[in-house]
Amino acid sequence: MRTDTPHTIYRKDYASPSFFVDTVEMGFDLDPDATIVATRLTMRRNPASRGKTLVLYGESLRLVALRMNGKALSKRAYTLGHGTLEIANPPDEVVLEIETVTQPSQNTSLMGLYVSNGNFFTQCEAEGFRKITFFPDRPDVMATYKVMLRADKEKYPVLLGNGNLVEQGDLGDGRHYAVWEDPFRKPSYLFALVAGNLVCQEETFRLQDGRDALLQVWVEEGNLDKTQHAMESLKNSIRWDEERFGLELDLDRFMIVAVSDFNMGAMENKGLNIFNTKYVLANPRIATDVDFANIESVVGHEYFHNWTGNRVTCRDWFQLSLKEGLTVFRDQEFSADMIGTDSGRAVKRIEDVRVLRQAQFPEDAGPMAHPVRPDSYVEINNFYTVTIYEKGSEVVRMYQTLLGRDGFRKGMDLYFQRHDGQAVECDDFRRAMADASGRNLDQFELWYSQAGTPRVTVATRYDEMSNIYTMSFTQSCPPTPGQPKKLPFHIPVAVGLLDSSGRDIPLRLQKGGTEGSSEGVHANDPAPTTMVLELTQQTQTFDFVGVLEQPVPSLLRNFSAPVVLEYDYTDAELGFLMANDSDPFNRWEAGQRLALRRMLSLVREVKQGAALDASLLDTALTDAFRVTLTDTSLDPAFRELALTLPSESVVAEQMEVVDPQAIHAVRRFLRRSLAQALRAEWLAAYEANLTPGEYSPDAESAGKRGLKNLALSYLLDLDESDGHQLAQSQYDAANNMTDRLSALGALVNSSAPGREDALARFYDEFENEALVIDKWFSLQAVSYNTDVEAVRALMRHPAFSLKNPNRARSLIFSFCSGNPAQFHAPDGSGYAYWAELVITLNALNPQVAARLARVMDRWRKYEPALQRNMRNALEDVAAAKSLSKDVLEVITKSLA
Ligand code: PHE
Ligand code: ZN
Repeated sequence: MRTDTPHTIYRKDYASPSFFVDTVEMGFDLDPDATIVATRLTMRRNPASRGKTLVLYGESLRLVALRMNGKALSKRAYTLGHGTLEIANPPDEVVLEIETVTQPSQNTSLMGLYVSNGNFFTQCEAEGFRKITFFPDRPDVMATYKVMLRADKEKYPVLLGNGNLVEQGDLGDGRHYAVWEDPFRKPSYLFALVAGNLVCQEETFRLQDGRDALLQVWVEEGNLDKTQHAMESLKNSIRWDEERFGLELDLDRFMIVAVSDFNMGAMENKGLNIFNTKYVLANPRIATDVDFANIESVVGHEYFHNWTGNRVTCRDWFQLSLKEGLTVFRDQEFSADMIGTDSGRAVKRIEDVRVLRQAQFPEDAGPMAHPVRPDSYVEINNFYTVTIYEKGSEVVRMYQTLLGRDGFRKGMDLYFQRHDGQAVECDDFRRAMADASGRNLDQFELWYSQAGTPRVTVATRYDEMSNIYTMSFTQSCPPTPGQPKKLPFHIPVAVGLLDSSGRDIPLRLQKGGTEGSSEGVHANDPAPTTMVLELTQQTQTFDFVGVLEQPVPSLLRNFSAPVVLEYDYTDAELGFLMANDSDPFNRWEAGQRLALRRMLSLVREVKQGAALDASLLDTALTDAFRVTLTDTSLDPAFRELALTLPSESVVAEQMEVVDPQAIHAVRRFLRRSLAQALRAEWLAAYEANLTPGEYSPDAESAGKRGLKNLALSYLLDLDESDGHQLAQSQYDAANNMTDRLSALGALVNSSAPGREDALARFYDEFENEALVIDKWFSLQAVSYNTDVEAVRALMRHPAFSLKNPNRARSLIFSFCSGNPAQFHAPDGSGYAYWAELVITLNALNPQVAARLARVMDRWRKYEPALQRNMRNALEDVAAAKSLSKDVLEVITKSLA
């Protein structure tokens, strides 16, 4: 029996803080082995609080001195508990002076103050500030900060903090100082400092109101040739937020700093965003098209947080999606607007939905399922999830779908009018949307409180006599941990109808249908071709009138709600939608449905002992793929997505009992069949989408490269020497990382004689580019040919390190979650490896370990033999000594 059962925190137990903090003054004497932090807090009692005790949090700190209102506090006047410092019966107004010491060089958790490549960085979200000093470290305590940094001048020539630099100078003894003041009140999780040997690219940028702002991108020396794209992205973000939401930069100075040891993607600290190098550094030599796009969106994301997160922040961590869901929605819209074209927008939408389905749907169906606004947690770090981020963004998107773009903007305006400078709840956002639009959004609250992915089943009927087409919807939602029964959601379902020539039919709803009102219809046009139907009940029926022929329905256009939509399409109807739907999302969707249907039936055949050969295939899928592949009126980026088969994990989610080997075999078989049948077409697409000349990461060129490299990967699946040569010559001639890496990946997945040599050459060429070496590891980790033993061998490579999260993820995570056929080896060797690594990482970095622990979430879905091995591995981890709260929560919930 464990005695250290972790403690669960409940949303219903929220109590406002007993004391507020008005001002924070801090002095840092930075030293890797002993940094002294002197803090002065002016605090006052919160009259609304029932708590009398002043509670501060602190972790891994050595307390050196503590004074209250000028007098040293005796040991009897305060209590040091597990992670807390409590002062009983303090006066109403308190000036607290605290001196603590920390050891940044030994901090491998990368929370609080730590050292990376000899420089100092901080990470305070969610609860890292308490590793720097004792503090009421909770987001509803907001204060202004003034910070003095002192450090050795030679080792740490650059000293950065939040807000504005107000003073700097020499201390005489080889040390120097800088004073930073942040004029905006902020919660402690937005605190940051950086000190070290860094260089920057900078620019002044004229804001809409005529002010000039100084923009800086700070990196380690030698990386200044990789900052241009981040700077461009930052300027585009600033412009976009002004134009789309009327939101301006509120500081004179905005800094981005890149750090190579970082747990997450990036962090929105006020005026001093700290980024994982992966989301800053780029040039054509080292970064792929996907990297360029990711950098744009992450730079946007962090910048947009300045309003959605920083100016208006979260009352408590249960409200995390208030800032994250909203900010993901904003970055998705930003990226879409940056592409600009309609088809580009659709491509972006498809990519986002793919992430949702591949990662969030499984989360919502597994043991860690939680609502967008959770009711409880053990470790908040475990709740930075795809549900909070991606589903949260879908929830925000639904407001826009329901209220229209203008209505949504009015809601946003009201939200800032009401809550600027406050720490608020998800309910406050919903209320602003409701009040600004006059719409009742009470039922909409269930999107925040109920977990699980709703299922919407559709049945249709056409009546030739009356020309009425009827759609009946039934919604349900599977049980999730702690929530056996669900109430019906408020679901916007965008629909259209296609006539037999493939054109949209103008839509008119019968008045007085069972939906009760036409409230759900959004159109100025008397007969729109897309209508948003609002589902609010368990079953609902809509009658479309004046439909002159049997139509084909296009359902859930543009993926208007995060649900699973079930409708019994025939293969022919799917092929028809794939070729004709005016909604590009649904064109893609139709192809995916068709492919998924084939993959699932092949998996059934394999499990019944059938051999995978051509006799199992009909031509429906090949024909549909041929049409798309050769339709040059379609955007190459769209074609790439449409011609990509559903991933192994998406197929797995559809199955009652998962057999990863069968799924893998089927997907490879289907790819080879499509390669064979369309060989000439793939080659033609390859030739037609070359992008000669200078590299540019713009969406159009990236789309071409994407389609060309998809063609290459299909051709390589034939594993013939023509293909090998094509990949080899692409590799040799490449002037950019996208083409180089695609060629290398294709070679490594094949039996090409040059594969080992290409891998070695790639390593030698990029040995000094950490982000590229990450790619080198991860490409091998996900290769068909890499088994557990090969991964263990790669771990012994001198460039491998467990302490650097990017590196650890590039090999271990890529293998455990990106190479299902090898990871799920029937002998359980993959699971044993997983358990070993979770335990090892737990001691170094609990957050990284807990993310790896999540890989086994869906173990109950696997075949009994695999399940047994998975359970054993989970139990091995559960039995390990000194597990962090992070890992313990994930493992306990998985086994529950
Ligand atoms: N708030 C960061 C973001 O989404 C993510 C983050 C969380 C980073 C916790 C570090 C630690 O932009
Ligand atoms: Zn965020």
